[in-house]
Amino acid sequence: MIYLDNSATTYPKPYSVREATASALQNGANPGRSGHSLSIKASEKIFRARKTAADFFGADKEESVIFTLNCTMSLNIIIKGILKPDDHVVVSSLEHNSVMRPLQKLRSVGVSYTAAPVFPMDNDRTVDSFRKAINAKTRMIICTHASNVWGIRLPIERLSALAHEYGLLFAVDAAQSAGVVPIDVSDSKIDYLCVPGHKGLYGPMGTGILIVSGNVVPDSLIEGGTGSSSILYEQPSVLPEKLESGTPNLCGIAGLKAGMDYVSRIGIENIAKHEFVLIKHLYRELSKMAHIRLYMPMPEPGYFVPVLSFNIDGKDSESVAAELNKRGIAVRAGLHCSPAAHKSIGTEESGAVRISPSIFTRQNEINYLVSVLKRF
Ligand code: ALA
Repeated sequence: MIYLDNSATTYPKPYSVREATASALQNGANPGRSGHSLSIKASEKIFRARKTAADFFGADKEESVIFTLNCTMSLNIIIKGILKPDDHVVVSSLEHNSVMRPLQKLRSVGVSYTAAPVFPMDNDRTVDSFRKAINAKTRMIICTHASNVWGIRLPIERLSALAHEYGLLFAVDAAQSAGVVPIDVSDSKIDYLCVPGHKGLYGPMGTGILIVSGNVVPDSLIEGGTGSSSILYEQPSVLPEKLESGTPNLCGIAGLKAGMDYVSRIGIENIAKHEFVLIKHLYRELSKMAHIRLYMPMPEPGYFVPVLSFNIDGKDSESVAAELNKRGIAVRAGLHCSPAAHKSIGTEESGAVRISPSIFTRQNEINYLVSVLKRF
C-alpha cells in the first residue's frame, strides 16, 4: 500500500515508537498509584515524556504539559473548560469540527463565535480579518495553525500578538503543524497549544497533548483519581493532575515520547523539506493535467504545510479515493471533518481528494500516483 493519508495519522510508525509502546505494555504498572518499583518506573516514564514534550514545544514547566487522548480532547478542554456564558470567540474560517462542534454546543449556554476569513498567502489581510471580528465580549482567539484540507498556514505569531493586544486568550490547534513546523509556546506566547500525538509526532493513536501556558487554567471536564491528594473529594487544582484523571495511557505516552525523540533526531526542518519536495513535485505534475482542479497556489513553506487537495473534473472525490485504493494508494477524500474549510473554498458539495506525505514517503510513490492520475 502506498500510504498518502498521513494527515489522518502517520503510518508507518518509526521502529523506536513501536518498540517503546510495546515495551511499556510488557513492563508497565499503573504510574503514580503505588509505591512499588514497577509503578515508580512507570511514573518516571511519564515524567520523562512530559519533559520531552515541554522541551519540544518550549513550555517553561513540565507541569504545563497535559496528556490527553487526542487533539480533539485538548481543544474540548480549552473550549469547555474556559468559556463562560456571554463569552465570544474568534476562530478562523478553516477550522476543523474539533473546534466548531464544541463551540456549536456552547451556543446553547450563550457562547458565541465569529469565523474570520483567511486569505491564503496574504497574512496582512488575514490578521486584519481577525481584528475586525473582535468585539467587546471576545474572550479568546482559537485558530488552526494549518488547514487539514488546504495546508494553508495561519500567521500564529501575529495572531498571538493581536490577541494579547486586546487582552484575549490565544489557543492554537496544531493538528497539522506539530512535527513539520517548529512551535515554541513561550516565544510565540501561545496560551494553549493543542496537539495530536499520532500525526506529525509519529506517536500511537489515542495520544494527544495540551500545553497550558496561559494564566487561566481550564476547569476539568472529568474528575477522578489522580494518585495525589487522595483524602480530598475535590479535584486537585494543580497541573497536570487537575486535567489528568484516571489511569493514563502509559503505552501510548511512552510511544509518543519516542515519536518526539525521533522527530527531534531527524529535525523538523528536514522532515518539512522532504515532504515539500514531494508535494511541490506532485503539484507541478498535477498542474499539467487539464482534468485536475487545484485550488491553491504552489504550496510554499511559510504559507503552507505539505498537504495538497484536488478534484478531478466530473468525478466525485470519494469515488476517486476508492479508485486509488483499488490501485494500492491510500488517500482521504470528502470533507475531512472540516466543512468550514471546504465552504470557504467552495468545495462543500464535492469534497476533495487529499494527499499528505510523511518522512517515509518516497519519490517513486508520488511518481506512481502521478501516473495513475494521468489515466483517470
Ligand atoms: N483530522 C484528521 C484528518 O484531517 C483525522 O484527516
